[in-house]
Amino acid sequence: MFHSKITGVGHYVPEKIVTNKDLEKIMDTTDEWIQERTGIKERRFHPVEEGSTAKMAVKAANIAMERAGVKPEEIDAIVFATLSSDYYFPGSGVLAQAMLNMGTIPAIDIRAQCSGFIYALSVADQFIKSGMYKKILLMASETQSIALDLTTRGRGMGVLFGDGAGAVVLEAHNEEGKGILSTHLHSDGNFAEVLRIKSPGSGRATTFYPGIEENYEEIHPQMDGQLVFKNAVTRMPEVVIEALNHNNLTVADIDMLLPHQANYRISQMVQRLLKLPDEKIYNNIERFGNTTAATIPILMSELWEQGRIKEGQLFALTAFGSGFTWASALIRW
Ligand SMILES: CC(C)(COP(=O)(O)OP(=O)(O)OC[C@H]1O[C@@H](n2cnc3c(N)ncnc32)[C@H](O)[C@@H]1OP(=O)(O)O)[C@@H](O)C(=O)NCCC(=O)NCCS
Repeated sequence: MFHSKITGVGHYVPEKIVTNKDLEKIMDTTDEWIQERTGIKERRFHPVEEGSTAKMAVKAANIAMERAGVKPEEIDAIVFATLSSDYYFPGSGVLAQAMLNMGTIPAIDIRAQCSGFIYALSVADQFIKSGMYKKILLMASETQSIALDLTTRGRGMGVLFGDGAGAVVLEAHNEEGKGILSTHLHSDGNFAEVLRIKSPGSGRATTFYPGIEENYEEIHPQMDGQLVFKNAVTRMPEVVIEALNHNNLTVADIDMLLPHQANYRISQMVQRLLKLPDEKIYNNIERFGNTTAATIPILMSELWEQGRIKEGQLFALTAFGSGFTWASALIRW
């Protein structure tokens, strides 16, 4: 049986930095409130006129392929994770495929919100393990800024999110105990209403008439922040322990934890519950906010650039988000 391993990682974030002070000018909020509750200092917003979720993903993908030493024509399939696709349909995967001139290879879109990257990694890993594909390009990209209400009414959500993209190349290999050791996916749709955007959605009269006042709650993200917080701090460590147990490993074996970046306080609690020292967790929420599916590959790409990913190290990834969905993966580099 084949195994899969990550051979290249890349990321792209828009140049436009939006600080908490910038948000103070357009809504009733303060830098102090945002930093204290979330750890966020600034985020990046992608100017609408400069493109799209797929365009950002392609920039990250080109870096990942270059670092992997893989040419676009060698890729067998695309897996694309996003909750902010360019169109209602088709998904951003095919748009990126066309931009990358990747012929007629399949492009699979994954909709698992903040858990999207780990879900995508799991899907790609299964294709490689089964022998169906040898080289897969995974992209995770989000343009959150266009859906946020950046007025006082939307401040509960508006200050949390940012735009960006990450990508990895996953390749088949046959070395035991290396690469993606396992992935663990969960969801509980009973919590679907707790964090969601309703429109555009099928069977809704409002689907094609966004923007009018009475549809406010339909077209803007809605969240019960405290319920999300409580579930995230339980599920994220729990699913890491599940992955460790599955591989007969312990927390002490982890060299680096990459938690989804929704809130610095969530990351701190996950770290505390797992009893991990500071040097074994990497956070970047202060610079990018929550970039949903793109978060984990951005974290990974930054560590790659800093030369902090060493052969033999064990990385644990964990995410929690809308759905609810949550997931983990263990990677031996
Ligand atoms: C969103 C979150 C930071 C809010 O923090 P909180 O401590 O729960 O704050 P609350 O929502 O209870 O709001 C407290 C007060 O701050 C106010 N407030 C909300 N957003 C604000 C903002 N941006 N600036 C200033 N005040 C704000 C609220 O209106 C409320 O005021 P009130 O007490 O007068 O009603 C927190 O719940 C959280 O991070 N949850 C998880 C979010 C998450 O992970 N989402 C993505 C999942 S992937």
